[in-house]
Amino acid sequence: MRADNAPVIRLEDYQPTDYLIDTVSLAIGLHPTETRVTATLALRPNPAGHAGASLALDGDELVFVSAALDGSPLAADAYTASPEKFVLHRPPQQPFTLTIETCVNPTANTKLMGLYRSNGTYCTQCEADGFRRITYFLDRPDVLSVYTTRIEADADTPLLLGNGNPAEAGALADGRHFAVWHDPFPKPSYLFAIVGGDLDHVEDVFTTASGRKVKVAVYVERGKRERARYALDALQRAMRWDEEVFGREYDLDVFNIVAVSAFNMGAMENKGLNIFNDKYVLASADTATDSDYANIEAVIAHEYFHNWTGNRITCRDWFQLCLKEGLTVFRDQEFSSDARSRPVKRIADVRVLRSAQFPEDAGPLAHPVRPRAYKEINNFYTATVYEKGAELIRVLKTLVGGQHFRRGMDLYFERHDGTAATIEEFIACFAEASGRDLSAFSQWYEQAGTPRLSARGRYDAGAKTYTLTLAQTTLPTPDQPEKRPMVIPVALGLIGESGRELPLTTADGATDGGVLVLDGAERTVIFTDVEERPVPSLLRGFSAPAILDLDLTDDDLLVLFAHDTDAFNQWQAAQTVATRIIVRAVEALHAGGTVQVPVGLAQALGHFLDARALRDPAFAAQVLSLPGEADIAREIGENIDPEAIFTARKAVRETLGQALAGKLAHLYGELAIDAPYSPDAAQAGKRALRNGVLGLLTAGDAARGEALARAQFDAATNMTDRLGALSVLSLVAGEAREAALQAFYDRYRDDPLVLDKWFALQASIPEAGTLERVKRLLSHPAFSLSNPNRTRALIGSFAMANLTQFARADGAGFAFVADVILQLDPANPQVASRLSTAFRTWKTLEPGRRAHAEAALRRIAAATPLSQDVADIVTRSLA
Ligand code: TRP
Ligand code: ZN
Repeated sequence: MRADNAPVIRLEDYQPTDYLIDTVSLAIGLHPTETRVTATLALRPNPAGHAGASLALDGDELVFVSAALDGSPLAADAYTASPEKFVLHRPPQQPFTLTIETCVNPTANTKLMGLYRSNGTYCTQCEADGFRRITYFLDRPDVLSVYTTRIEADADTPLLLGNGNPAEAGALADGRHFAVWHDPFPKPSYLFAIVGGDLDHVEDVFTTASGRKVKVAVYVERGKRERARYALDALQRAMRWDEEVFGREYDLDVFNIVAVSAFNMGAMENKGLNIFNDKYVLASADTATDSDYANIEAVIAHEYFHNWTGNRITCRDWFQLCLKEGLTVFRDQEFSSDARSRPVKRIADVRVLRSAQFPEDAGPLAHPVRPRAYKEINNFYTATVYEKGAELIRVLKTLVGGQHFRRGMDLYFERHDGTAATIEEFIACFAEASGRDLSAFSQWYEQAGTPRLSARGRYDAGAKTYTLTLAQTTLPTPDQPEKRPMVIPVALGLIGESGRELPLTTADGATDGGVLVLDGAERTVIFTDVEERPVPSLLRGFSAPAILDLDLTDDDLLVLFAHDTDAFNQWQAAQTVATRIIVRAVEALHAGGTVQVPVGLAQALGHFLDARALRDPAFAAQVLSLPGEADIAREIGENIDPEAIFTARKAVRETLGQALAGKLAHLYGELAIDAPYSPDAAQAGKRALRNGVLGLLTAGDAARGEALARAQFDAATNMTDRLGALSVLSLVAGEAREAALQAFYDRYRDDPLVLDKWFALQASIPEAGTLERVKRLLSHPAFSLSNPNRTRALIGSFAMANLTQFARADGAGFAFVADVILQLDPANPQVASRLSTAFRTWKTLEPGRRAHAEAALRRIAAATPLSQDVADIVTRSLA
């Protein structure tokens, strides 16, 4: 069905089902093209539903085979079955069992939803609505059932995994065999999973806080066993952390993780059987960067944490998606912060929020963290639901305080365990635990758009007072023309010009705990006994997802950069100064002038590097990594000319690289590591800074940088150093670049995950020749549009990480991506749809490029057939 005529699903229309399904017994006979699924459902009328209603079960491309009621075949007029629906016209009004047989073809399943094969391995993906591609069901998250799954397969599929605990296994005639799994915890269908294959694994025994033994294992393709060790270790650290920090213990006898190579998203939290994109499992020093390791740790933790936030307590309906996703992202962020450096993790998370969520919130795809309406739920697994959703949990914690937050979580687990809950029920737990009225806070879930927070300060030297006025506004978003003020906790401090932190004294204690809550359009506070002119440090630790507009001079910001006790704002101050300089450079170029870089920033960076680079390299790496082209584009906001931004940014980096050349060269030497590789935060920080230093050095002196990069590339003993060098080399056109790319390819030609880095790097080269290069790579033997990782690496990187080339002035970049979207859509609409979100900022472009982007979007919108997924995105993008 096309989006234009697809029904809109609305939160206000929520109705409980007319029937409940208490138990599900599945018998699955795995076969490459004809897998038989027999589902026996124990149903009963739902007391909360309509008595006597017919029973309509969801299906999607299903082949119906047979149906029986309480063991007897159904009469032909008792039901209707189509690929999309099974209707039992007159269900019994007491408990009954319905047995339905369907047949599915996992090999032909290119959508990677439901049961499919990934490199020969049978696997499933059921969230959000893939279970209906396996059997007819009430495929929605508020129908909770206890599942027993019997899987049968040939001898070439020795490993059979399911949800819950293993119950039984054995041999059958004809070399076939079976395994039975039983999951005692009631769950919605989207958490169902099975795996069948011939895989290697690593395993261990995890002893829970109360002394229960859990067999934990990670399954991977044969030959990749050693690359699964880090994931297994991360899993056990996450399990321990959830006990210690949230008091949550694991509940089954086994916990299995399976890595597959064809997967639409990152990973999936199926009960006791997490299925992962292998990108978030496999790691070795030779094949994975330090960021890959960090991502693996975070995603492993994320999926594990879902066991309590998502599985034990699930969502009543898909509008509540942030109830599990925002909360679980918050939990994985906290885990990584504890495992690594908290300020560095915070900076990294805010970078993601700003680059992925802020543009979404400012464009045609903006929606509230809890949407009120959708056409295609798979398009709402967004940065807003995930990342802004996590920010809202952080805001909540800041508002109620750490102790009340923990008590609220405990109450939530206690009260809602085993149920499908709502955001209201979640927030009520914190209101109760803290004794506070959180109704104003809950607006954050309803209102789309990023609040703009402005701050104006005035120091009265005679009276020693500092008057600070904070004000907020939010621009209109689709369907929400009027905006209300949000509750914004502004963590703050005052830094004297001398560099010391000044005490916060107000008549009414408005800033106790260092947090000022702005809950109206405007608020003024007067600080007394302020001994010197202060520079305000606002939104410390990024205490709310807002855009801060400061009336500070560059010199004020450099005071914060040098002296702020809040590391996040220290970093932010340097970023803000750099952003201003680059924006001014863009303006100068437009006015026909030249780029000027004030010496202040270079000097400040120099001092900073002297003092901090070797003490805190991970943090220094964040400071040295200047705002990207997209950051600058966001700051400028409209009439974007990507070429001008690119040129301006490059010139600023060149100037900084030259001004700091001596220090950078020295640091580059100092930061070399001669211990064996470890992915830990300390080593990773050094490598990150060293690669950042190399990049800036090369910006200032291409020949010198290139020589260093080549030496680093040749001598590298790990992927971080090798790829860091290669990405520096990739920016300098010529023989050296092509030779290095070839050497990298030769080394990793049989390693698809590593070749994704090779595809992504080439697609990101900011040169006019890149489009042709990407087109050539489309027919490279290692490339395939049917693998989502390959597609994201080559096409996704081009569309999302190469602003100048995707948004080429001649429109060829847009046209190319539109072609790929249309080619991919029939096979895998979810991946095609994600790709089409690359156009989400098209309205901010200058008129020429904007027209080309619009033409590409209109061409996609007019195509037939077009999936509901892509149609929904392009229709909203054009609105
Ligand atoms: N729930 C998954 C997570 O941990 C997201 C996910 C995995 C997903 N696969 C999906 C969402 C397929 C939609 C479709 O965040
Ligand atoms: Zn999740």
